[in-house]
Parts: sequence; C-alpha cells; structure tokens
Amino acid sequence: MRQWHGNGISFGGDYNPEQWPEQTWSEDVELMRRAGVNLVSVGIFSWALLEPTPGRYEFGWLDRVLDLLHSGGIQVDLATATASPPPWLARAHPETLPRRDDGTILWPGGRQAYCPSSPIFRERSLELVRAVAGRYAEHPAVVMWHVSNELGCHNANCYCDVSAEAFRGWLRERYGDLAQLNDAWGTAFWSQRYGDWAEINPPRTVTAFANPTQQLDFLRFSSDELRAQLRAEREVLKTLVRQPITTNFMIGMGVKHMDYQSWADDVDLVSNDHYLTAADPQAHLGLSLAADHARGVAGGDPWLLMEHSTSAVQWQPRNVAKLPGQLRRNSLAHVARGADGVLFFQWRASRVGAEKFHSALVPHAGPDTKVFREVCQLGADLKALAEVRGSRVDADVAILFDWEAWWGVELDSHPSADVTYDDRLNALYRALWRAGVTADIIHPSADLSGYRLVLVPTLYLVRDADVAALHRFVEGGGTAAVTYFSGIVDENDHIRLGGYPGAFRELLGVRTEEFFPLRESEQVRLDDGSTADVWTEWLHPDGAEVLASYTDGPLPGVPALTRHRVGDGAAWYVGTRLDDAATDRLVARLVDEAGVRPAAPAPPGVEVVRRRDGERTWLFVLNHTEAEARLPVRGTDLLTGERCSGELTLPAGAVAVVREDRT
Ligand code: GAL
Ligand code: ZN
Repeated sequence: MRQWHGNGISFGGDYNPEQWPEQTWSEDVELMRRAGVNLVSVGIFSWALLEPTPGRYEFGWLDRVLDLLHSGGIQVDLATATASPPPWLARAHPETLPRRDDGTILWPGGRQAYCPSSPIFRERSLELVRAVAGRYAEHPAVVMWHVSNELGCHNANCYCDVSAEAFRGWLRERYGDLAQLNDAWGTAFWSQRYGDWAEINPPRTVTAFANPTQQLDFLRFSSDELRAQLRAEREVLKTLVRQPITTNFMIGMGVKHMDYQSWADDVDLVSNDHYLTAADPQAHLGLSLAADHARGVAGGDPWLLMEHSTSAVQWQPRNVAKLPGQLRRNSLAHVARGADGVLFFQWRASRVGAEKFHSALVPHAGPDTKVFREVCQLGADLKALAEVRGSRVDADVAILFDWEAWWGVELDSHPSADVTYDDRLNALYRALWRAGVTADIIHPSADLSGYRLVLVPTLYLVRDADVAALHRFVEGGGTAAVTYFSGIVDENDHIRLGGYPGAFRELLGVRTEEFFPLRESEQVRLDDGSTADVWTEWLHPDGAEVLASYTDGPLPGVPALTRHRVGDGAAWYVGTRLDDAATDRLVARLVDEAGVRPAAPAPPGVEVVRRRDGERTWLFVLNHTEAEARLPVRGTDLLTGERCSGELTLPAGAVAVVREDRT
C-alpha cells in the first residue's frame, strides 16, 4: 500500500463541476472548506468534454477547476476520464459497442457503452490517459490517480465478435492446444468437441445448458479483460506520473464479475465503493462485511472508501434516506474497519440526469440542511481521528472468499437453486458480528497463520494447494468450519470423485454419498433443537464425531453437524442450512473453542472494532441501538475529548473512538 494525501483521514467525494455553471465553483470550494473536505475525485465522466471531437482536447475548464481547488487547499484524486466514451466513438466505430449474450447491442445514452476487448476503445482511451496525465502530472493539487470508474459495472461481459476473438486468444494462452481445452471443458459430453479454435465462441444464448467450464472460463476471461484495461492505463500513467494509482472496486455489493483479489496488485492502494441495501433492515451488517472484505483484498492494509452516500441513492426500487446520525455511524464504521479515507458520491446533488435524486454532500435544498450539517460534523470527527491513520484492524478470524468459487457455485444445472454463494457467508459473518468478533475476509490462498478460527462458507470450487493450507492450519491447532456444497469441484469444474465434500473429505472426516436438497420452504429439525432448510445430505462420519443429526425430513438419524480432530486442531462440518439462532450457537461454540474474544464485551447491537498501531490501540464503539449502551473501556474518546476511566456510556445511535490506555 502506498500512502496518499497529507496526514489525516481523507474526506470528500466525487466532484463534477462540469455539470454546473462556473459561478458555482467558488461556492463549492468555500463550502468544501467549511465542511473540512480535503480530497475530491475530479473528471470521472469528463471524456466527452475533454475531447469534444476526436483528437481535439479542451483542458481550459479543468485547468481552472484544479487551480481553484488548489487555491482552496483541496487535493485531487484525478480521473483518467476513460469511464464512459463520448458518443462520437460509437458513431465512428459501432463495433466498440458491447453486446449481450443474445446479440442485443448496448447503445450510448447511458454510460460505459464499450466492449472491454475493443482495440479501438483501448487505443482511444489510452490516448486520453496520455493527454490528461501529461498535462496534470505536476499539478500541485493532484495527489492520486483514479483509473476509469467501477470497471465492469455495466459492461462486464461482452459477447460480440471482437470479444469472441479475444476469448479464443485467452483460451490459447490458458490451454496451449485444443486437446487440453477439450479435456478441461469435458467436450466429450453432448457432442461438443472442438476441432478448430475458430469454432469456439463465448457462451452466447444456447438451446440447452451451456457448457459449465466454458461459462466459467468466460467469466475468468471477462474479469481479465477489464483488468487489462486497468493495467494498460496504469502502464501509461506510470511513465508520466509519480502519485499513487487506484481504481474503485465494488467489493461487498453483490458484484460478481470482477475477481478483485486478482486485481489487487495492480493498484497502489485499494479503494472501494459501498452503498447500503435499503431493503435490508440490518444493512449496517452488510456495510461491515463489505469493509472487512475490502480490507481483506488490501491484504490488511488501510484502504480508501471512494464512494458511499450521505443519504438515499436513486437506483434501488425504494431509496430510503438516512436517519439523523446514520451518516456518521456508517462513515465511522468504515474507518473502524480500516478505511483511512471517507469519500462520497457526490459533492453537489445534480439538477439533471439519471442521478438527480441521489443524495450528495450539498443537497438540492442547499447547505441549511440536516445532511450538510452532518457532513460538517463528520469533517470535524475525521479531523479528530487523524492519528488513527495507517493503523491496522485486529482480527483473529478469517472467512475464506473466492470469486471463482462464487462463479462456479452459481452456474446452472446444480442440485438446488437455493444454494447461493453469499448466503452462508452472510449468515456466518452476521453471527460473528452479533458476537462482537471481527473477521478478515480473505482469499483461500492467503496466509492463515495469524488466525485462530477459519470459516469456509460454500467453497464449491477449491484448489488443492488451498485445501492443503487449511489442513496445515488445523493440524497446527486452528479451528476450521466448512459449510455444505464445499470442495465439490476442481478449478475446471470437474467433480472430485469418491464422495462429497470432495476436497475436504479427509480434513472433515466425513463422506457423503448423496445430496438430498429440500423443497422450497421445506424445513427439517435436528436433535439439538435447531431447524434448517434448503440442504441435507446422506453423510457418513469417517473419523469425525457427530454433534447433531436430523430427526425428520428425508434423512432421520443422519448426521448434520460434525467435528473432526486433526492434529492439534479441529475441523467442523455443517451439512445443512442452519437457522440464524442455530448459526449463532454454532459460531459461539467455534469462537469459544478457538479462544477468540470480542474486541470488547458490548451489549447486542453495539459494534466494537479495534485498530492497532504497534503499542497504540483505538477501540471504535458504534451504538446501533435505540438505547444508551455501557461497556468497560479505559482511555480517551477522540470524538468528544472525554476520558473514560472504566466505563463508557454511549447514547443511542452514538459513536466513540477511544484511544485506549496502555496496560
Ligand atoms: C457508483 C458510480 C457513481 C455513481 C454512484 C451512484 O456506481 O461509481 O458514478 O453512479 O454509483 O450511487
Ligand atoms: Zn465485445
């Protein structure tokens, strides 16, 4: 990770002055200063204004914007401006437009209407990067470069002929010869054998189920193509600029198509965008998960929250506004979980365009508003937290997450459509959250040695080396828990034979001979009082002890929950979809067995996370409840300046960040 921008916590957001008359700009800077804003992202959707006709650049307005920001002491994360091509590109080169799997062309008029594999798009976008970076590399306001914007947000998978050719090239690289490809894709099935590379296409709309490995490879290819755009822009930037380079990821937003773990080495710092799911009454738990995952992708380093919202968004079916105090809790929860900067989309709410009902730091109603007052309060809060910058988050628990496993498990033609990747991830994560336990969400190939407990939700596709690493972790005294439909296939989506859960059979000491997925809404009961649904399986212990068995359903008497001692540790298997209360009990047992403790003993609904820098520690306490909370803490609350010598009393909805006394 490379440090960016000044010393404290970054604060600001996307700034789109091109949507406003120039007179507004000086008021913007004045209000930014009032709010304590110190970093804004500029130029993200400016391509059509910067290059109004091919090859003719107009930088005057951007010069003035950057100079004005600089004179106001506001630093800039400058975009390469390649996020969305101008309409002239599609007119001159319609072949740059993306196509869906059924051939539908996606036209300009929205955003990101380009095929990620288009050489024309690549060339024109890199020329723009060269022009922008050449002009502003030395501009004193610029402290960071922002490649494109949410690469793949709308155009992740393109099925056009250009993409088809690029896919073939990618497959040649991966397999070398057709025999290898035929083997990996299992093309002996359904007369799918390929005799010539030219016969191969992306998985376009087909009659029956498309070949699963073809689908999986197309997802890998698509993620790599977008990463190639990131890499290409980065290469150009590196020859011209010295500031750190990032691009905003969408980790924890249910965004499936970009394998961000494989992109992490292509940015100098991880930045992430997160928006609450309004329909989720516990959306703040989803926020925590996203933040813990962003940190995991960043390898535990501090990261930057590039976008979130001051209040409602405009793209969900019902765009719920944030209640007083929520903006602060949401922002500080990200900081608690390792963000060293809190930025928003966007500075001033648009008057026009598809995002005009999206909240901003300056709402339509102006600065005399709840939102702008809370923005100013947050600016002051973040200033008070400057010393936290650079510290890391304490976590003894890891949850393994792999985009490839996600892609694999949600392919079609599986035992049950009710098995989705994020279901058990969320269930286990939320049970940990309720227990006050912080988890890192990391890739299965990450170093496990620093953890006490490793949770493995639905790792359908897994590599041998990662299974071996988990085995060593348990042998060395760790506790692991694996949930159903894990270890089933190798990286080519070939079944691991000999009984399920394939790759994890030995570690877990169980062998399943047949899956018994349940009907929609069907429930089963276990002899420990739990209920479960979605999934059961005909499991035989093979070294493992049985902790709970079914009492009804298709498999009465068959084990549902097992524990296997391996070396100095233990590996648990959860063969069914436990209800939330049972998941809480399970997690409590796992945490207890592994010797994991919450960051602080806190009442339910109070979030506690610890950041640490050598000897110094900061305890973040966020009261999400409607009642006052008390918990034992010793130190100084940086937000109020108050001492707490033994007990912290936190009003409903409030936040404290306590620099803890050293003991
Ligand atoms: C993000 C995007 C922003 C803005 C925002 C609205 O996906 O990067 O440009 O559209 O969402 O929530
Ligand atoms: Zn394409």
